[in-house]
Amino acid sequence: ETRKRLGYQRLTLLCGAPSASDAGVVAPCPHSLPSQTQTLDSIPGPTNWPIFGSLIEVLRKGGLRRQHDALVDYHKTFGKIFRMKLGSFESVHIGAPCLLESLYRKESAYPQRLEIKPWKAYRDLRDEAYGLLLLEGKDWQRVRSAFQQKLMKPTEVAKLDGKINQVLADFVRRIGEVSDNGRIEDLYFELNKWSMETICLVLYDKRFGLLKDKVNEEAMTFITSIKTMMSTFGVMMVTPVKLHKKWNTKTWQDHTTAWDRIFNTAKIYIDKKIKRHAGATEPSEDFLCDIYRHSNLSKKELYAAITELQVGGVETTSNSMLWAIFNLSRNPCAQEKLLQEIREVLPANQTPSAEHLQRMPYLKACLKESMRLSPSVPFTSRTLDKDTVLGGYSIPKGTVLMINSHALGANEEYFEESSRFKPERWLKECSDINPFAHVPFGIGKRMCIGRRLAELQLRLALCWVVRDYEIVATDNKPVDAVHSGTLVPNRELPVAFIRR
Ligand code: HEM
Repeated sequence: ETRKRLGYQRLTLLCGAPSASDAGVVAPCPHSLPSQTQTLDSIPGPTNWPIFGSLIEVLRKGGLRRQHDALVDYHKTFGKIFRMKLGSFESVHIGAPCLLESLYRKESAYPQRLEIKPWKAYRDLRDEAYGLLLLEGKDWQRVRSAFQQKLMKPTEVAKLDGKINQVLADFVRRIGEVSDNGRIEDLYFELNKWSMETICLVLYDKRFGLLKDKVNEEAMTFITSIKTMMSTFGVMMVTPVKLHKKWNTKTWQDHTTAWDRIFNTAKIYIDKKIKRHAGATEPSEDFLCDIYRHSNLSKKELYAAITELQVGGVETTSNSMLWAIFNLSRNPCAQEKLLQEIREVLPANQTPSAEHLQRMPYLKACLKESMRLSPSVPFTSRTLDKDTVLGGYSIPKGTVLMINSHALGANEEYFEESSRFKPERWLKECSDINPFAHVPFGIGKRMCIGRRLAELQLRLALCWVVRDYEIVATDNKPVDAVHSGTLVPNRELPVAFIRR
């Protein structure tokens, strides 16, 4: 009724029953048993022009905002491994499960990612510490192990379901309140506030009130500072940060002011938290205090590590939820199947728990499929800290490798009908997907440390939203992904939420 009145369309075109062909087939890798290694220079790739490298060609292919599509094209043209230069920045791109596995098996004790120089410049300026996103070597390992148990152990993360649900109860209520005929103006910002509110509750045990009608100034400053910090660092990744600092450019000023505000707020709440639990003899079951008490991290290290967890977790989680909502709106059959599963496992009016999720394989499959089709982080990187043979090529120490999860997910060789949303491909009975073909959280020792928290948060969120609302598509025109740090939709999502 409501849908007809509003003129919403049901898109049934993409529904399909699971079949044997849903399973991906692991193709033998032609590079896996090289007889002779070749040099870096023999890796194929687009024309490397003087000064610009392949920059002009990438710009012609749609620019940096479409770089993920250009990279898929290059993988199609040059194969599983190619080499590319953008200006002076040279990288080797790997987009095959066998190469990722090979890299994983040769991983050193302290794998490195590409440096985030603008963030380091800020920390050095203010004499702040580095967190997990920036640290390297033994210091990285020390901080990582302080958080590893709490964030990567499933039974530990499951304990956070109560906090996550607390925020979700407000979020689903808010969807009803702020929607106009089911449509939400700036859904992405609403989701950003939801994920920020959740991570703040987990980290600081504090509600910031971001889901209220009137958001207080402190909370608003916090969230806008994170947005500003994220939107100003990209340009300083491709132009020398030293010059920005020397000339005190607007980008540098905005970036440092944003970090100042982020650090100031984070410090206030970390300090309050530690003070509240100081002297307690009982185990606190509190995330932050437990880590502080049981690790040998200094307060300065804790400030940096917690702030980076927050920065790493907000945009990525809200972005993944945004794409999951979109994919379900375009696939009503999958959404219906998901609803049935939720209703079967979860008694009416009961709050979903981490334990309920164990019995929801289709929910897990929907999320995996959405992250394959629409990954929020299209690629991650490794800076080789030793000479490494990969795919038959001898790649020298210092080379930057790009691990392209977006290209892997879009590859027909690993995912049949790769452009279709088919959660069934992940179900146990028929799944033969190579684990290295799906790496939305990265690989190995440096894999995303927030992975389990994000998965729990996203699965619970889908439970709440799909149980209370039908997510409908309000048009069937294409929605493209553009690269802006994460992959974001190129227009406001055409979706609406109809209360069930
Ligand atoms: C759906 C949500 C998320 C996605 C798609 C995502 C994705 C990623 C990826 C691709 C990496 C790089 C891994 C690698 O290089 O192998 C990463 C690293 C990281 N992520 Fe996430 N992430 C998500 C949620 C979170 C959350 C919730 C947190 C915080 C609780 C977080 C904190 C971090 C940190 C600190 C690192 C650096 C880890 C290290 O180098 O040791 N992420 N994430």
